[in-house]
Amino acid sequence: MSNVKFKVQPGGSIKGRIRVPGDKSISHRSIMLGAIAEGTTTVTGFLEGDDSLATLKAFQDMGVEIEGPEKGNVTIKGVGLKGLKKPSNPLDMGNSGTAMRLMAGILAGQDFDCELIGDASLSKRPMKRVTDPLRLMGAEIDTAEGGTPPLKITGTGEGSLKGIDYVLPMASAQVKSCVLLAGLYAEGTTSALEPAPTRDHTERMLNGFGYPVVSEKLDDQRMKASLQGGGKLTARHIDVPSDISSAAFFIAAATVSKGSDLVVEHVGMNPTRVGIIDILKLMGADIQLENFHEVGGEPVADVHVKYAPLKGIHIPEALVALAIDEFPVLFVVAATAEGKTVLTGAEELRVKESDRIQVMADALQAVGIDATPTEDGMVINGGKQTPQTTEIQSHHDHRISMAMTIAGLNAVSEIVIDDCANVNTSFPTFIELINQVGMTVDVV
Ligand code: S3P
Repeated sequence: MSNVKFKVQPGGSIKGRIRVPGDKSISHRSIMLGAIAEGTTTVTGFLEGDDSLATLKAFQDMGVEIEGPEKGNVTIKGVGLKGLKKPSNPLDMGNSGTAMRLMAGILAGQDFDCELIGDASLSKRPMKRVTDPLRLMGAEIDTAEGGTPPLKITGTGEGSLKGIDYVLPMASAQVKSCVLLAGLYAEGTTSALEPAPTRDHTERMLNGFGYPVVSEKLDDQRMKASLQGGGKLTARHIDVPSDISSAAFFIAAATVSKGSDLVVEHVGMNPTRVGIIDILKLMGADIQLENFHEVGGEPVADVHVKYAPLKGIHIPEALVALAIDEFPVLFVVAATAEGKTVLTGAEELRVKESDRIQVMADALQAVGIDATPTEDGMVINGGKQTPQTTEIQSHHDHRISMAMTIAGLNAVSEIVIDDCANVNTSFPTFIELINQVGMTVDVV
């Protein structure tokens, strides 16, 4: 792919009414569960980004008939839990950790061998966190040295996986989902106990497909999700809400630029995803949630944001997992806030599409912000405009490309961001929409 750079002109205010593409997490899961359900699942609002398309193609490679996507519409002819076929080539998950980790759970329960591969960024990401519980369940999986992709999964056949009670060592929805999806193929009960609540789309969607998942809060407030193996999923319709993680760039943009007044419509408001709204409000943001309603088991609302002067805060650790994908842009917001913002308890950021603590600290320092990385977070002294013209590296990470675009709103001169084709993984219409609402960003 040729190198794509964003040239971001400084300043601007953000106005209008927009809709951002479908939720990435829900889009992945709609294909996975639709494929292993019985009957035909229809999806609207599907994210046509490289990540969710990698999942779609992987299931086509395993013999599932899938039509679309066509303007966000997808039709999946489910083959049932046992109907997947051995793919003739390794399944390429591209940049997507979600695709690789969740599919590992499904593939561990098949009776054929297969291999999961990924791009340069994904090939460096930790997979031991899913191979550990899957091996405890009886799966046979090999990784590269250091526990990174490719994953080579040996088909073990019916009855070979056993349910486990797994205590997750980190707050990860991908690990929880992987364990639960393998649990569909396992004997007995499988449960996943998380140290802090993470996104619960897998549990909600399995219930929606008629597969009971019990979620309970323990006395110490930890969440446990359990299911019984050997049931069946029944096809349904899925309406995918807009992705709050994509909306976040626009919510942040309107919050930090004077004169802004923006509505982002139909945004997913799952309580396990709304940390960004709570954190921005604690900093003083003017955000109203309007037109609250529910689509297919997921709450949605229109997010109405106006400019407001912000102050730095110590971000409550209880909100970290609920805003885990939003920290690149939250760091940019913190750089505009008066005083000190401190993030702790977010070491998971180091193993995302890039090391988001180091990469964002480098990027912010390069544009003249006082940002200090720590082992598990960052300290930012904000409140000044960014003085320097510079070129930023995205490090194969879509959210770095988009977050540093938003940094342009508070800059005094042009920012150039290198290696931005990755924005297509989650948000192919980002540039069109950001220019529509009032920024000036050229793609070169
Ligand atoms: C996701 C879970 C999160 C998140 C990722 C999507 C999911 O990852 O960062 O973008 O869809 O389950 P972790 O489970 O690694 O925290």
